Amino acid sequence: MKFSVSGRAAAVCAATSALSAVMLLTNGATAGAVTAPTPSAAAAAPDISVANVKAHLAQLQSIATANGGNRAHGSAGYKASLDYVKAKLDAAGFTTTVQQFTSSGRTGYNLIADWPGGDANRVLMAGSHLDSVSAGPGINDNGSGSAAILETALAVSRAGYQPAKHLRFAWWGAEELGMVGSRSYVNGLSSANRSKISGYLNFDMIGSPNPGYFVYDDDPTIQKTFQDYFTGLGVSTEPETEGDGRSDHAPFKNAGVPVGGLFSGADYIKTAAQASKWGGTSGRAFDACYHSSCDKTSNIDDTALDRNGDAIAYAVWKLSA
Ligand code: TRP
Ligand code: CA
Ligand code: ZN
Repeated sequence: MKFSVSGRAAAVCAATSALSAVMLLTNGATAGAVTAPTPSAAAAAPDISVANVKAHLAQLQSIATANGGNRAHGSAGYKASLDYVKAKLDAAGFTTTVQQFTSSGRTGYNLIADWPGGDANRVLMAGSHLDSVSAGPGINDNGSGSAAILETALAVSRAGYQPAKHLRFAWWGAEELGMVGSRSYVNGLSSANRSKISGYLNFDMIGSPNPGYFVYDDDPTIQKTFQDYFTGLGVSTEPETEGDGRSDHAPFKNAGVPVGGLFSGADYIKTAAQASKWGGTSGRAFDACYHSSCDKTSNIDDTALDRNGDAIAYAVWKLSA
């Protein structure tokens, strides 16, 4: 709404051609074409509206329902999910790029959204996988991360935030087939462009119905940033240590990019000690609907989604300032 559309229209057209080969983006070209509100110095991160995040989840649920009950790689529900997120970002002034790849004989897509401005040599990225498994609509896994980073990106636009670093958001395809989209993105980066990424923040399952508060124990600065936020809320966290190979931060970490992220738990069982500090039910999975048909809008803990969404915005602001 506040921005001219010329720059991003060109970027979108340029992004629609390749099949199999991942297209790499250069975003410097559009930075001069926009006018942004004057930034305030040391802007505070906004409170992310959990109602807005849940509205995105309701849309993803509707998309799954209208497309055979899932949003899996290669399906119409996946593409519709991508189109939903992309339209919101385009309207908010992001420069969006769709990257195509092929996996298991089906076309997959990553969506990359660059916020114009910031130092192109210091890029802060936040990403979430947008695909579900074929068994269900994937609302906690991973509508939750996808919707929360979408709302964070929209908050960047509403604030007219102009951080020192360049901000880039990503929605990955085919994570459930083995992090195919994110690996394809990282493999397609030149070593020069890879080294410009100062951090990658991953969000995969952040609204689990019987939640834990896990902070990836990877880059210490990123980890501490998230821990500080939860300390301020009076919520204790545990380090997430087993996720190293299990989500889209893995290709970044393997390429030497500092990574971090949040996780509210999947199929592991909540212990009595965890239930006493976090509430919920011990002896039950953090998400009993993990990879199942019941991973629908009812499979979300609003408090966990709210806290994690706010933590994302806090870290994006803090780590890009
Ligand atoms: N990546 C898994 C999925 O999408 C979810 C998951 C399980 C996970 N354990 C994790 C994500 C640890 C991050 C960290 O199905
Ligand atoms: Ca909030
Ligand atoms: Zn997932």
